[in-house]
Amino acid sequence: VRQLFPSPADPSDTPSDDAQVDPLEVYDEVREAPEGRPWVIVDMVSSVDGATAVAGRSGGLGGPGDKAVFRALRAVPDVILVGAATARVERYGPVRLDDEVRARRVARGQSSLPRLALVSGRLDLDPDAVMFTEAAETPLVFTTERAAEQGGRFEGRAELVALGPTSVDLTKAVAELDRRGAQVVLAEGGPHLNGQLVAAGLVDEWCQSVAPMLVAGDSARVAHGTDPAAPVRLVLHRLLEQDGYLFLTYRRAE
Ligand SMILES: NC(=O)c1ccc[n+]([C@@H]2O[C@H](COP(=O)([O-])OP(=O)(O)OC[C@H]3O[C@@H](n4cnc5c(N)ncnc54)[C@H](OP(=O)(O)O)[C@@H]3O)[C@@H](O)[C@H]2O)c1
Repeated sequence: VRQLFPSPADPSDTPSDDAQVDPLEVYDEVREAPEGRPWVIVDMVSSVDGATAVAGRSGGLGGPGDKAVFRALRAVPDVILVGAATARVERYGPVRLDDEVRARRVARGQSSLPRLALVSGRLDLDPDAVMFTEAAETPLVFTTERAAEQGGRFEGRAELVALGPTSVDLTKAVAELDRRGAQVVLAEGGPHLNGQLVAAGLVDEWCQSVAPMLVAGDSARVAHGTDPAAPVRLVLHRLLEQDGYLFLTYRRAE
């Protein structure tokens, strides 16, 4: 993966190989959490024309560099946050990281694997799904008070946390993760979850992979459905490239 921004100090006399970087190294940065909540990263892939899915799933947008960046980002957080529709459609499994990455996490004082946290209002999730049965740590499920009352089937499979009468308050969900010691949260979508995170002012870093494809179709934009009071201003933090894929990292402007 080539780093295009920030560029090498003097590109004119720097051999192009110097721009090669290991995603595991570049995404492994110190992130200072804001007061009272963890640092929230969103990671999404889209086509050049903004599609987030091909035939209903994101896999058709992927490529080798994209997979390397996805894995490197998963090495970072204490918690991976995901909307129920994404977990259902993408058939989420338990979070797995290779031995080297797990060792790095432990060396910097984190648990060896991030914990999965789902958001589901209806609790239309299968407690026998492998993301529950094979998880190293029981996943959290942020849900509604009404659904939690009917959630007995998740006993021993997931920890249900009710955060609202009919929908989950995401500000409370992120505060709850803070209360449990999370310093970095990685949100993996989908677009409807992202839209709420943006509207609630909860996004600190946006990692956007742009796949060199035109897809058209009717998939949602990377963040969809909820308007923030005003657009959230960002600054470009890094740009990587591989095989025509762009890997953009933006951070919230101060
Ligand atoms: N390109 C990419 O990087 C990428 C990444 C992720 C997903 N995707 C694609 O995006 C699509 C799925 O995304 P999506 O936007 O439709 O759905 P989503 O954001 O993954 O999940 C929406 C669901 O999450 C639950 N939810 C979210 N916010 C809630 C709240 N405040 N209160 C209660 N429940 C809440 C609800 O679950 P219940 O229905 O259980 O109540 C809702 O139906 C799929 O096609 C997937 O392939 C693409």
